[in-house]
Amino acid sequence: MDLYCVMGNPVAHSRSPWIHARFAELCQQALGYERRLVDIGSFEEGVEAFRREAAAQGHVARGCNVTVPFKFDAAAVAQHVSERATLAQAVNTLRFEDDGIHADNTDGIGLVNDITRHTATPLAGAEVLLIGAGGAAAGVLGPLLEAGAGRVAVANRTEGKAVELVRRHAALALRHGATIEAWALDRVPGAFDIVVNATASSLAGDAVPVSAEVLRPGALAIDMMYGPAAAGFMDWAHAHGAVPRDGLGMLVEQAAEAFSIWRGVRPPSTAVLAELRAMLAAA
Ligand code: ATR
Repeated sequence: MDLYCVMGNPVAHSRSPWIHARFAELCQQALGYERRLVDIGSFEEGVEAFRREAAAQGHVARGCNVTVPFKFDAAAVAQHVSERATLAQAVNTLRFEDDGIHADNTDGIGLVNDITRHTATPLAGAEVLLIGAGGAAAGVLGPLLEAGAGRVAVANRTEGKAVELVRRHAALALRHGATIEAWALDRVPGAFDIVVNATASSLAGDAVPVSAEVLRPGALAIDMMYGPAAAGFMDWAHAHGAVPRDGLGMLVEQAAEAFSIWRGVRPPSTAVLAELRAMLAAA
C-alpha cells in the first residue's frame, strides 16, 4: 500500500489523517495516512525513518505533509523545490519520486481556494490586509497575488519583517499588476475587502492587533486558525460588521491540493469540509 503521513511536533491534534482518509475513501484510492511525531531538530531522520519503516512493512512511503515546527527545515531534504515553496520559504508537502524528493507548499492555494469556493467575496481585484509576516503569512502572500488580488497590505508587529516579505514578493506583484505594501500594525491606511489573520495573537489570547477601521462593511475576515484559537478574531470581526471565517476551509483545501499532487485526483473538498465542521460541532 502507498503510505503518507503528517510530521510535526506536536502532531496529536492534527486533523490531516482524518481528512486524507476521507479523501481516499471518497476517491476510492487505496492508501494509508498516519501521524508521526518527530523530534525537534531531527526532521531528516524523521523522513528516513518513515520511509524505512514503511518498506519494512511491505508498503511504499510516497510523501508526507509537514507541520509546525518543520516547515522551514523541510526544503533541505528535497532535491526539487517548487517556485511557490521557494517564495514562501516554507514547505508543507513532500512527494517521494524516483528522481528524489519534491517539496511544495499548498497552504496559500488552500486559502485562495477556500475564499473562491466557499465564500461570496471575490478575490480578483480585492484589497487584502494580511496581518503577520511569519511562516503562515509567507505561505499565502504569493498565491493571493497570483489569484488576482488588486492590493495586498502586509502589517506586522515587527515592521521590518513585513518589509522583507513584501520585498521578496515585489516582482511577483508587478507581474500580476498588484499593489503590495508593508505597514506597522498601528499605521495601516484605509479599509479592506478581505482581512486575513496570520498571526499567533489569538492563540496567545491577545486582542486583535489592528484597528477595526481596516474592515469595510461586510468584509471577509479570516483567521488561519480554527476552534478556540480563532474565536477572538472571529468575535471581533462579527462585532464590527464583517463576515468571520475560521481556517478550517483553508486546512481542508491545502490537504486537497496535496492529495491532488500525490494522487492525480481532485478530492471533493467542499463535502469533506462540511463533514469535518459537523463532526467538530458535535464533539
Ligand atoms: P507562524 O509560522 O505561525 O507564522 P511565526 O513565524 O512565529 O509563526 O510568526 C508569528 C507571527 O505572529 C508573526 O508575524 C508575529 O509578529 P512578529 O513578527 O512581530 O513576532 C505575530 N505575532 C505573534 N504574537 C503576536 C501578538 N501578540 N500580537 C501581534 N502579532 C503577533
